[in-house]
Amino acid sequence: MEKLEGKVAVVTGAGSGIGRAVATHLAEARMRVVVADIEQGAMDATVAQLTGAGHEAIGVQTDVSDGESVQALADAAVARFGAVHLIHNNAGVGVGGPIWAHTESDWRWVLGVNLWGVIHGIRVFVPLMIEQGEPGHVVNTASMAGLISVPHLGAYNVSKHGVVTLSETLHRDLQLQGARIGVSVLCPGLVMTNIFESQRNRPEGLSGETGAGNLSALIRTAADDATADALGAFGDVLSPDEVGASVLDAVRTDRFYVLTHPEITRVLVRARYDDIVETRSPTALRP
Ligand SMILES: NC(=O)c1ccc[n+]([C@@H]2O[C@H](COP(=O)([O-])OP(=O)(O)OC[C@H]3O[C@@H](n4cnc5c(N)ncnc54)[C@H](O)[C@@H]3O)[C@@H](O)[C@H]2O)c1
Repeated sequence: MEKLEGKVAVVTGAGSGIGRAVATHLAEARMRVVVADIEQGAMDATVAQLTGAGHEAIGVQTDVSDGESVQALADAAVARFGAVHLIHNNAGVGVGGPIWAHTESDWRWVLGVNLWGVIHGIRVFVPLMIEQGEPGHVVNTASMAGLISVPHLGAYNVSKHGVVTLSETLHRDLQLQGARIGVSVLCPGLVMTNIFESQRNRPEGLSGETGAGNLSALIRTAADDATADALGAFGDVLSPDEVGASVLDAVRTDRFYVLTHPEITRVLVRARYDDIVETRSPTALRP
């Protein structure tokens, strides 16, 4: 999608981190931006930052795990700007701990936001974009954990592997349809955001006892050597701004896989596929 000026972008999870940075880069490319987030205050702050810099932006409080809420987001975007040309399904959360210790509410929360959020985004926005008949683009945020299996991030890994295959399938289906809609799947390594404090936006209905620790406790204390090793293998910690710039470039150049840490990702993905091809057990992830 080369021409972005005046076009409309919707970014979920844009109250913080990667989503806020992407919204900023898209606005600086002169797109009109709909900022969606479950956290009203954070969302309002992004909108204020964008409009304060002279960009056109609105906020629509959205719970991406709820299909009706995502439909209301699309309706609000169309009501305000008349169309949607770019949807970035980005909102995400995580829990940590051994996979058998994840509770049912841990699974429902993480899969609800990370996987169902993207499913709803595709289900609601892609038909709208096809109907418009104009060039468009879908960006889905997965993770390096969508390409390999990181210890102690079971629900997160499952959700992100799901987002990668959703994106690959969407790409193929759009190609078969001849639609002028590009797809990118963002697979970051570590980025300096508030993801480690995901619990702040965990809904009451899905709180309950969590067998798995929150990411912050797990990773900040580095109590868990396996996870710390695996995360160390992810390479340098990037700023959200660097990732925002990569996403803008991927949209402009229609690049499908967006790897923020390409060297280390190639090594880890090759190791995984060699394990499969050689039918051996998964190789340990080491920095
Ligand atoms: N930070 C990293 O190291 C990293 C690495 C790989 C992938 N990612 C992915 O990047 C995406 C963005 O995360 P981030 O790192 O910027 O974290 P972040 O916590 O800074 O931002 C995530 C945003 O999503 C919002 N959100 C949470 N639940 C929501 C819901 N139900 N509906 C709508 N919004 C909701 C939060 O309020 C927050 O504003 C996530 O999908 C995450 O899994 C992050």
